[in-house]
Parts: sequence; structure tokens; C-alpha cells
Amino acid sequence: MRSVVLGRGFLGEEYERHGYEVWGRDRFVIKDANTIHFDDALLDYDVIINCIGKSDTRSCERPENWEGTLLVNGILPSRLSALCEEHGKTLVHISTGCLYDRNDYPQTETDFTVSHCRYTVAKWVGENGLNPDRDLILRPRLFFNDQDHPKNLLRKLPRFTSYLDELNSFTHTAEVVRATSALVAAGCAGVYNVACEGFLTVFDLAQLVGLRGGKIHADTLHLREGLYLVNNILNLDKLKRHYVPANLVDSVLEANAKLHGEAAS
Ligand SMILES: NC(=O)c1ccc[n+]([C@@H]2O[C@H](COP(=O)([O-])OP(=O)(O)OC[C@H]3O[C@@H](n4cnc5c(N)ncnc54)[C@H](OP(=O)(O)O)[C@@H]3O)[C@@H](O)[C@H]2O)c1
Repeated sequence: MRSVVLGRGFLGEEYERHGYEVWGRDRFVIKDANTIHFDDALLDYDVIINCIGKSDTRSCERPENWEGTLLVNGILPSRLSALCEEHGKTLVHISTGCLYDRNDYPQTETDFTVSHCRYTVAKWVGENGLNPDRDLILRPRLFFNDQDHPKNLLRKLPRFTSYLDELNSFTHTAEVVRATSALVAAGCAGVYNVACEGFLTVFDLAQLVGLRGGKIHADTLHLREGLYLVNNILNLDKLKRHYVPANLVDSVLEANAKLHGEAAS
């Protein structure tokens, strides 16, 4: 089966490192809802993986960016879904685990979803325009990897002096790629949580990679950032029927060692 990935961002680049063909803005760009045009060449592929998104939550929160946020995170997925249905293709859409906001028990795919900010409202619209009987919808959470990329959580951590003391799930971008391959090969459709196995607080994560700092409470962080940043942990049982993700602590240590050019012990 031939696959193509749309969007050469932080995650799209991971698919490319794993050998997937990736179309960046040079091949595929969405300007406005009336002129979403799909290149006929897209129909040469059996599987279309949508990694295009407005992922900067602070930027999404600005009212002047709402139209673009809704277009890309909300409207584009439904257009891709319709295209895939019409032509018998498989759509893989990268949604987000930010649609859950509980970390008192691991959230399953059928638990309640919520939207507290413009980013999650638009991502929620995006999911609701999909066909869960045909489309594969992945909900990953808080990406990290071993790349020197501005979106890499492990690269961002040293900038902070205090760290959130709430349990969360985290996802190595390579786990999204491996989960995609396994789920597509198994012919899966519907929603799947994707993350590394295990939960940590951001404070624990920072300690793990040798950073020292204080703890910050979620309410203080919300006020400071002017954003409702969710905390949640994902139940991975559904994913594990087809793909068993790597352990979080091991993945973080290995990625951090590679990021800093050290031999992973
Ligand atoms: N980052 C996370 O922790 C995280 C966690 C869970 C889910 N997700 C989801 O995962 C997906 C990928 O995230 P990411 O971290 O890889 O984000 P990213 O680095 O921002 O990548 C998104 C890509 O979409 C492209 N794009 C945006 N608007 C476009 C448009 N109008 N036309 C064509 N391309 C456009 C961007 O191009 P430009 O860079 O040129 O704008 C970028 O290459 C997103 O849907 C995000 O919501 C992310």
C-alpha cells in the first residue's frame, strides 16, 4: 500500500525519517475553505496521513488567528475524509489527546472529551467531521523525540525554572509512526489513544533529564500562560491490541541522550 503524509512539521518529519513520503507546503497548501483543492496526484496513494495542523496553542488562542485555526484543524479533516470515502482511500488523521482533561484515571477512547481553548475546539470540530467507521483517528499527547527541533518538549524544558506537578501522558513521535503502520496494516478505523507506556509529571520528566527547578501548580500556570492547559493520562489498551508502545522513562532517557549527543546507557 502506498502512503503519503501531508504536512512536514515536527511529526511529519518523523514519518519522513521512517521512510514515508511527505508533502510539505511546497506540494500541498490550504489557503481558504472555498479553495481547498486536492491535487489529482493524491489519488495515487492508498493511505493519506494528515499531519497538517495549527499546533501552537498560544497562536491559536489569538482571535485574529481563529479563521485559519478552524480551517486547518477543523475543516480540512472533513474534506480529506470525504475525498477518501469517495475514492476508496484510507485517511489517518492526527487528532489530539488534549481532548481529555482528567488525570485521576487513564482516559479511554469513549470517555468524555472537552474543549477549553480555541485549539481544542477546532481539533474537536476536526474529529467530528470524520467517519469513525472508515477513518483512523489518532489521539497522541505531548510530543517529544531526539531531534533538535523547536517543538521538541525535551528541548523546551531547560527554558523553564518551574515544572507542572500533574501526571500526564507523553508521546515519542516515533511511537505515532509505528502505531500508524501497525493500525493501518490491521485495517483499524476509529479513535485510538497513542502515547508511551507510563505517566509522569513534567516535574518528574525534568528531574529525569537532570534539570533542577521548582514545582508549579496547574492553576498558577493557567493564569501565567493565559491558557487552559489540560492534564490527562491515556489508557492504551485499545492500541495495545495491535501495537505495544515503548516505555516512557526509557524513551525519554534515550531521546534525551541522543538529543545531547551522549551514549544512552
Ligand atoms: N505537538 C504536540 O505535542 C501534539 C500533540 C498531540 C497532537 N498534535 C497534533 O499533531 C499534528 C502535527 O503536530 P506537529 O507537532 O507536527 O505540528 P507542526 O510542527 O506545527 O506541524 C504542522 C504542519 O502543518 C503545516 N500547516 C499548517 N497550516 C497549513 C496550511 N494552511 N497548509 C499547509 N500546511 C499547513 C505546517 O506548516 P508551517 O510550519 O509551514 O506552518 C506544519 O508543517 C497536529 O495536528 C497537532 O494538532 C500535536
